Amino acid sequence: MSVYAFVDSGCLERLRAKEWVSSAEILDGGDTDTGRGFLEYLRVCGVLDRREGRYRLSPRGVLLTSEISLARLGFYREAYAPVTARMTDLITNKAEYGRDVTRAGGALSRHSGTVATVSYVGLVAEALAGRRPRRILDIGCGDGSLLLHLCARLPELSGTGIDISRAAIENARADSERDGLADRTSFEVADAFAPDTWSEKAAAADVLVGVGVMHELFRDGEDAVIAVLDRLADVLTEGKVFLLGEPELRYDNRENDSDFFLVHVLTGQGIPRDRTAWLDVFRRSRLRCERIFTNAAAGPRTCFYELTAR
Ligand SMILES: C[S@@+](CC[C@H](N)C(=O)[O-])C[C@H]1O[C@@H](n2cnc3c(N)ncnc32)[C@H](O)[C@@H]1O
Repeated sequence: MSVYAFVDSGCLERLRAKEWVSSAEILDGGDTDTGRGFLEYLRVCGVLDRREGRYRLSPRGVLLTSEISLARLGFYREAYAPVTARMTDLITNKAEYGRDVTRAGGALSRHSGTVATVSYVGLVAEALAGRRPRRILDIGCGDGSLLLHLCARLPELSGTGIDISRAAIENARADSERDGLADRTSFEVADAFAPDTWSEKAAAADVLVGVGVMHELFRDGEDAVIAVLDRLADVLTEGKVFLLGEPELRYDNRENDSDFFLVHVLTGQGIPRDRTAWLDVFRRSRLRCERIFTNAAAGPRTCFYELTAR
């Protein structure tokens, strides 16, 4: 929380402006006892170094304020803040996720997208190598970063991303314009779990990808997931594949993993769920798991299941 406040208050940006910075410059008019005490607290925590009354980021501070670290932090501090603020009500059944409490969709798509870029775009590209896909559909695409990165790498590729969150789709559209990819990508608000409602453009894909979205359905029970996998089997004709990516936890009290565990428990999203449990769900559906891809990554890593229709 303190690192987040350091960023949110603009202190980080001012600290980064030069090598050693005074508290007055960092706090920019807010140079009070509280502000100075806060900087000292960050020094004691090993985030800042101090020399002759001036500060800079320590090596640990540099790591904690990297783009990926801040995205992981934003995932909990922004996207899931409305959920963790109501934790008591959720565990005592005074509030229900989806009815009384919802996470922030725009922040979720942004932060997931930043993490996706480094942790699994390469892995998906590797999984698709040899297939020469022409059109991709990303279901639960968030801010579209996976599709945009794949299209930027592969000039012959085009695709559509769908997401239930309007804020996420607006982010994705803005990024596709920014990246000059609006002619090869499109983004629509649509339900990933209802293929019969997808637009023609979405349904025309030869490869489907869905990362971190399917586990949401365990809220309605395993049979609900199997029913959707069966519906997807109808879409996967003529050798089309579905790359389903889902986070794997190590089930121990490690940074990232344990918080990741908690926000999913509070929102009834069916995590933790290990690889064996996913394989069992596939076995009970009309989809067959052909291959599994994963890579080492900090925090919860994503495991990809390549699924085809039986
Ligand atoms: C954890 S984020 C992952 C986003 C993106 N795939 C990524 O890897 O960065 C899950 C996404 O699934 C979306 N989502 C949840 N339920 C959905 C549904 N029924 N249809 C479409 N999208 C859905 C959420 O809005 C959110 O953007």
